Amino acid sequence: MARLESTLYLLLPLLNYLAKSTGESISECFTGEQKTLRINCGSGYMLRITNTFYGFSNSNTCSFRAGDCTQLEHTPYPCTGRDSCLITVPRSGKRLDNCDKNSTYFQVQYTCDPVIETTDICQSSVLTAQRGYISTPRFPSNYRDNLDCLTRIRVDPSQQINLTVIDMDLEINGTYGCKDWMYAFNQYRSVTLCGLRFNEKLTTLQSNEISIKFQSNELTNKKGFWILYEAWPPLIPSQPSTTERLTVPPQITTSPEVQTTKIAPLITSNTAVSNTKEEKLPFVAIVSSVIGTLTFILIVLLIILVYRWWNDKKDTSYKRKSQDVEYLDTRNPAYRSSTGTEFSGVEIYYNR
Ligand SMILES: *[C@@H]1O[C@H](CO)[C@@H](O)[C@H](O)[C@H]1NC(C)=O
Ligand SMILES: *[C@@H]1O[C@H](CO)[C@@H](O)[C@H](O)[C@H]1NC(C)=O
Ligand SMILES: *[C@@H]1O[C@H](CO)[C@@H](O)[C@H](O)[C@H]1NC(C)=O
Repeated sequence: MARLESTLYLLLPLLNYLAKSTGESISECFTGEQKTLRINCGSGYMLRITNTFYGFSNSNTCSFRAGDCTQLEHTPYPCTGRDSCLITVPRSGKRLDNCDKNSTYFQVQYTCDPVIETTDICQSSVLTAQRGYISTPRFPSNYRDNLDCLTRIRVDPSQQINLTVIDMDLEINGTYGCKDWMYAFNQYRSVTLCGLRFNEKLTTLQSNEISIKFQSNELTNKKGFWILYEAWPPLIPSQPSTTERLTVPPQITTSPEVQTTKIAPLITSNTAVSNTKEEKLPFVAIVSSVIGTLTFILIVLLIILVYRWWNDKKDTSYKRKSQDVEYLDTRNPAYRSSTGTEFSGVEIYYNR
């Protein structure tokens, strides 16, 4: 029973993730007539368009089947974040680059997410959920003037936070840069974003703690942004995941409009700091006690060695003296006997 329960616990995050990532889809074939796709999430839900693409059907269907040749369409939809949407389907198919065929259908994939899963960036300080959305105030309606808001996402140290910009429209002045902006940063890097964006993963910041700042000026106000954050990999309950720490090499986003800078601001929360301290303490204690014990043993050994050396030295110096005496005693008569007295003085001199 307990085994089954733990297996279910292991599967839950995966099932949850699959259910959320697949979503629903709606599609239409190209017939030469003007067509529209109507999506209705209902009040209390926000529409998130995860994918739109042109496809060529091998089986004469008007929706995607495995093996179809497809091509992604990367356009922002103004209805993103609203509870319903009317999407105008192009009148005719597009030539698909990767299979050299004319597309036969157009498909939109979407999810309907409860409004309560989205947090207003100006109404929150720290988010610790495994998944959620952050938006500018009043999204999908326009934000207001002179806002300066900051929120922080913090998940387990064994995880990283994946950020996806689902929708963004922030004031930009051509090549002069951002007028209103979103600024995301961790201890090492930061990213500043503005302008029009749609379904864009931010891979620059890989960390378990990311801060997101939003600033608007007193000029034009736009729709704002809607961001998805997801902790990765999923936490496995009842099993400490400290052994599998992610060491991910830093990546730089390919988007040319993203300004990446190495930054100084280091905002670490007190709890995170104390957590790492707590983790380090037992290790430090063990190491220092081992070092202490070893030092003590070494000192005792050294004292014993010195003592023995001192004793030995006394013994051997005495022995050597007696040996010398013996040696001299035994040799001298021989030398005396063989070489006579002239050599005795030489021998003694030689020995000293
Ligand atoms: C493919 O589409 C183009 C326009 O995008 C059209 O001119 C052409 O006739 C189409 N080809 C076929 C085989 O349908
Ligand atoms: C998070 O990003 C990593 C790559 O950095 C990717 O492998 C993983 O699938 C992403 N997870 C989610 C839930 O998007
Ligand atoms: C854009 O920036 C330039 C230089 O700062 C300024 O001269 C121009 O008036 C700005 N345009 C708008 C629409 O803000």
